Amino acid sequence: MFKENTLSGQTILVTGGGTGLGRAMAERFAGLGAKVAIFGRRSAPLEDTVEAIRKAGGTAAQTSADIRDPEQVEGALSRLEEELGELTGLVNNAAGNFLAPSEDLSYNAFNSVVQIVLYGTFNTTQAVGRRWIERGTPGHVLSILTTYSWTGSAFVMPSACAKAGVLAMTRSLAVEWGCYGIRLNGIAPGPFPTEGAFSRLMPKGFLEQAKKASPLGRFGEPPELADLATFLFSPMAAYMTGEVVTLDGGEWLKNGQEFGKFTDVPRDQMKAQMAAMKPK
Ligand code: COA
Repeated sequence: MFKENTLSGQTILVTGGGTGLGRAMAERFAGLGAKVAIFGRRSAPLEDTVEAIRKAGGTAAQTSADIRDPEQVEGALSRLEEELGELTGLVNNAAGNFLAPSEDLSYNAFNSVVQIVLYGTFNTTQAVGRRWIERGTPGHVLSILTTYSWTGSAFVMPSACAKAGVLAMTRSLAVEWGCYGIRLNGIAPGPFPTEGAFSRLMPKGFLEQAKKASPLGRFGEPPELADLATFLFSPMAAYMTGEVVTLDGGEWLKNGQEFGKFTDVPRDQMKAQMAAMKPK
């Protein structure tokens, strides 16, 4: 659907772009003409992703940085812009999360997730935003949220707090920075089977049940998220700001609906039961 030059002229930084959804977006953007910058904590996956993009004919650069440290973020931005030119877009993708009972969390456990997700997103968004404001150039920030940004969620409480904060940041800055031509949007994914997420968030034996939680009966595919992200970076979405698009196969609606679980019962059986309840 997208023309090969859909993103040409753009230079997009994807935090945590060496693995999972970050890598899927980085590869898709590069395949559609964007120059792609990635950073993360571990060099090996970053190098691997850049190599794959270059082999496919794209332009990419990587550097190591811990998103929790504003100085490391600044240093990374300078190195990446030196190599690729000025950034025009940012994807706040880097995240940290794990399943844990909240009463057992240490201070450090809570702090480490919030530092990565909320402070890390702030560090990068502010640093990139300042550059755009100083230069008088527009820009687009896309943050990867989650469907529990609004509801909170048991057993991932630190992540829920941090993502709710990123949602508030997105909407606050969409208004505050609109005058600079800076847009901020979000994607709220449901479950996407990446090694990073599923190794931490999918307990053994829950896979089939988790698939059924969505009306579509399956998980998302990383390229599906990359396509939505591409649309949001394309000129077609130029009027959209402060918006969050949910991409979860209808999962959160089903689980919030009073009678949504009835769709898990074989339809013939459900129809027979409903027919039996109908007044004669
Ligand atoms: N349950 C409870 N506590 C946990 C935990 C778990 N599964 N995993 C880590 N912690 C605690 C640690 O015990 C430590 O606390 P302590 O010092 O009081 O013992 C604290 O969290 C920090 O852990 P550490 O491994 O030192 O931090 P880190 O900064 O290296 O890693 C994490 C950060 C914990 C978020 C790690 O999971 C990570 O690096 N994640 C990045 C990728 C990711 O999460 N992807 C999925 C996104 S959906």
